[in-house]
Amino acid sequence: MDTYILAIESSCDETSLSIIKNGSEEISTVVLSQMDTHANYGGVVPEIASRMHIENITIVIEECLNKANMTMDDIDAIAITYGPGLIGSLLIGVMAAKTLAYIYNKPLVPVHHIAGHIYANNLVRPMEFPLMALVVSGGHTELVYMKEHYSFEVVGTTLDDAIGEAYDKVARVIGVKYPGGPNVDKLAHIGKDTYDLPLPLNDDTFNFSFSGIKSAVINLAHNEEQRGNTINKEDLACSFQNRVVDILTKKTMHALTEYGVKNLIVAGGVSANKGLREKLTYLCEKEGINLTIPEIKYCTDNAAMIGAAGYFAYKLGRRADLTLNAKATDRLN
Ligand code: KG4
Ligand code: ZN
Repeated sequence: MDTYILAIESSCDETSLSIIKNGSEEISTVVLSQMDTHANYGGVVPEIASRMHIENITIVIEECLNKANMTMDDIDAIAITYGPGLIGSLLIGVMAAKTLAYIYNKPLVPVHHIAGHIYANNLVRPMEFPLMALVVSGGHTELVYMKEHYSFEVVGTTLDDAIGEAYDKVARVIGVKYPGGPNVDKLAHIGKDTYDLPLPLNDDTFNFSFSGIKSAVINLAHNEEQRGNTINKEDLACSFQNRVVDILTKKTMHALTEYGVKNLIVAGGVSANKGLREKLTYLCEKEGINLTIPEIKYCTDNAAMIGAAGYFAYKLGRRADLTLNAKATDRLN
């Protein structure tokens, strides 16, 4: 029997609904992005984000069901991102999910946002275990070992900033418009690697640190400004990107060897990064690693990935009741 999950994602500035069949097949997805609104402020304004989720959520629910030509009777369970994320934004999705679960008497399945990013890979092809997941998003940078479905062992993490955060900060310093990450990525491909930046936390652990390289970029830009020089944005973006991609790929390949794992998946908004995708593709081909990276549209926040994760959580019997609350922070589980 087929299982249809209706998934809701509202952890940041995208209101998204999706219907996923058997954890792997997308029936319909709707994503309402607030990016243009927040671009006016140079970043996501939490208060505005939650208000816009309120305005959008019912429209998105209706549109998603209509697009699929389905009703709530066809849905087996409702999966919801309960955290981590912006608390006001999360609350809107959680309230909508609880309301639907209550009215239509459907099981409610809580999904950790990062589990969602990881399971975006199951929309490409069935995940094979054991695997290593490189999680690179606005709030997370982690290497996660999975011996089977829904088993997450964090083997390395950032000691300070997340990689997406570092991208966004560097974007601001070099005067690149929001959204920072994708725009720095574009510039990096135009520029040359001319700036002398450090390779961050270049050691034998699986941990990361990006605050040092972020500060190095800030100092370099300020020093040049004080000397009356203009920085070359493209070259600085290229130098920054080369350094962070080098360290991310170096530690990932090291973790694969150390854990004897042949399957690598990439998850989170920064997996859209062209430099990272290219280098991982090259290295994995060379080392005989089975690499999966989601399509760009499944890299950044969307409900399809929550539906994929939600399916496996549902099959494992994970349930929430109507006391479910949003959590701004929570351990991957
Ligand atoms: O996963 P995501 O959509 O939201 C979180 O869960 O955090 O990730 C958003 C982050 C932002 O920091 C954004 O700048 C970054 O992903 N990002 C990129 C690229 N596309 C998105 N960073 C570098 N290169 C990209 N192409
Ligand atoms: Zn995300």
